[in-house]
Amino acid sequence: MHTMQPTKTRFEPTQIAPETFLIHDHHGEGTAPVSVALNTMVIRAAEPVVVDTGMMENRDQFLADVFSLVEPEDIRWVFISHDDVDHTGNVNALMELAPNATLVIDWFMQERMGASLDVSPLRWRWLRDGDVLDVGDRQLRLVRPPIFDSGTTRGLFDPLTEVYWASDSFGSPMQAPVRDVADLDLVPWLEGIHMFAQYVSPWLDLVEEGKFQRAVDRVADLSPRVLAGCHTPMIGPGHVADAIAATRIAHWATVPPQPDQSVLDELQAALGAAH
Ligand SMILES: [Fe+2]
Ligand SMILES: [Fe+2]
Repeated sequence: MHTMQPTKTRFEPTQIAPETFLIHDHHGEGTAPVSVALNTMVIRAAEPVVVDTGMMENRDQFLADVFSLVEPEDIRWVFISHDDVDHTGNVNALMELAPNATLVIDWFMQERMGASLDVSPLRWRWLRDGDVLDVGDRQLRLVRPPIFDSGTTRGLFDPLTEVYWASDSFGSPMQAPVRDVADLDLVPWLEGIHMFAQYVSPWLDLVEEGKFQRAVDRVADLSPRVLAGCHTPMIGPGHVADAIAATRIAHWATVPPQPDQSVLDELQAALGAAH
């Protein structure tokens, strides 16, 4: 469709806590007004963990980034937060290259993925919200984030580093790709969290206010030092409270409408005129 691929900003993995690394990818740079992060994470615990597996389109870079941090045969766990393509895009490839890894999913995830999940059931572990994953030197806690777009979603809290992997929560678009939300302007970042929350979880409309606040409390009560997620740059200690507060009020915010058919009409006209 596009004859020219815009240059894509390349970020080496960012260390966000001891032995914990955010692996960067993003979509939309140069082709859309904003770009959206598509991150994954590696925890070099006694038993190393890869958290989510990114987009298929980024497979070579994703695998190179992971293997720059941990040898394939040393990977003990591959944790999937939920069964969306931006989290499962390289699960089969990674599991094939990491012969000692066990895949942490749950029953419903493998049901929803069907034959697209090409990993032997002998290599699965089914863990749900509230469960614990012992990785040798720490016990990772599975805690569902307050914003999510799949019923299978579980976040992951590391009590040793106090990093919380939020899956699709705390996402926000970026004017230009950055590693850390500290490099974003504060107001657009917080407005981005509002927008992303409403787009990802339109069911917020249906939720009784107190129940939603208790869902946010579950993460706040972990007292995370750092928030990481697929669709946000690193959220460091100085910004965690802001991200949580923005999520609490996301439902009430006025956010831009999603582009509709009239926008697509304009896009198609422009593409047609260019040919
Ligand atoms: Fe998702
Ligand atoms: Fe996602």
